[in-house]
Amino acid sequence: MEELLEKLDTYRKEILGTEPDGADAAETYRIRFLGTKGIVKNLFQEIKNVPAEKKKEFGQILNEFKQLAESKYETLKDTANRQPSTANDKDWSLPGDPIPVGTRHPISLVRNRIIQIFGRLGFSVAEGPEIEDDWHNFTSLNLPEDHPARDMQDTFYVNRNPDWLLRTHTSNVQARVMEKQKPPIRIICPGRVYRNETTSARAHNFFNQCEGLYVDENVSFADLKQTLYFFVQEMFGKTVKIRFRPSYFPFTEPSAEMDITCLICGGSGCNVCKHTGWVEILGSGMVHPKVLQNFNIDPNKYTGFAFGMGMERICQLKYRVNDLRLYSQNDLRFLRQFVSAT
Ligand code: PHE
Repeated sequence: MEELLEKLDTYRKEILGTEPDGADAAETYRIRFLGTKGIVKNLFQEIKNVPAEKKKEFGQILNEFKQLAESKYETLKDTANRQPSTANDKDWSLPGDPIPVGTRHPISLVRNRIIQIFGRLGFSVAEGPEIEDDWHNFTSLNLPEDHPARDMQDTFYVNRNPDWLLRTHTSNVQARVMEKQKPPIRIICPGRVYRNETTSARAHNFFNQCEGLYVDENVSFADLKQTLYFFVQEMFGKTVKIRFRPSYFPFTEPSAEMDITCLICGGSGCNVCKHTGWVEILGSGMVHPKVLQNFNIDPNKYTGFAFGMGMERICQLKYRVNDLRLYSQNDLRFLRQFVSAT
């Protein structure tokens, strides 16, 4: 019995020390320990030589040993299966492992689509700084200091210089383009803007806008209407209708807000359109003569229209997302759902 226990101990150590080494090694191990002439079988045959009073105890020890040998074999086999096979036994005709592909952010999809649609009408993309001075964000756009309309856009100012602020709209880009370029001007300005608002499902302290500007001889409100009508039809489909409501912006005169028929309920009324059947999507108007003058563009010769929309709003209507915060939380479960904006 003593001798047997010693043998068992040696085997136990051997088992515990066996490292996985491929399928062949696992098979060698199986034959050595668990085969029909293997160690486990042989040890069980030894029971008959053990004194009667020790048989039970020895039987138990043997059973535990058998379990150890078997579970080690499972491990060796599993590890061998998981190991990459060598180049020679690979079946090269099998399809490859898929490479996970990322998706674009919904705002990028909408932005690209907007650029594409206006591109077809001859608008090019213009960009400008997010930290802006007062002149380009406000004053040149007919919003002098103390103008009450400045309150419409709660502004983040930069501590180091009271003349600096985070742009509240991308109209600053229009100002910068008019400053440098003479008409004809036909641009859209997509970009991030900032407003000092408390973050909630409906408001955020930064968001994305796309504004547009067209200045040339004989540009009329009819051009504005037709351009924006073309845009929404391309963006949302041919059945969408538009309507204009008079509004006020310091940099345009006359000004109008544009609504489209609610895409969620198709115009019959729901809580997205507050049961009116219409949702507002942008502000627009004819460029104020004072603004043209500020950039030495002769208002008697040139006229222009401008518009500005929030891209999150377009996204919301297109994808039915009802919480603005989702756009900046980087939650992959949200982001993976968007494939195309066309
Ligand atoms: N700049 C305006 C805003 O941010 C939008 C707008 C642009 C309105 C151009 C009219 C003309 O709210």
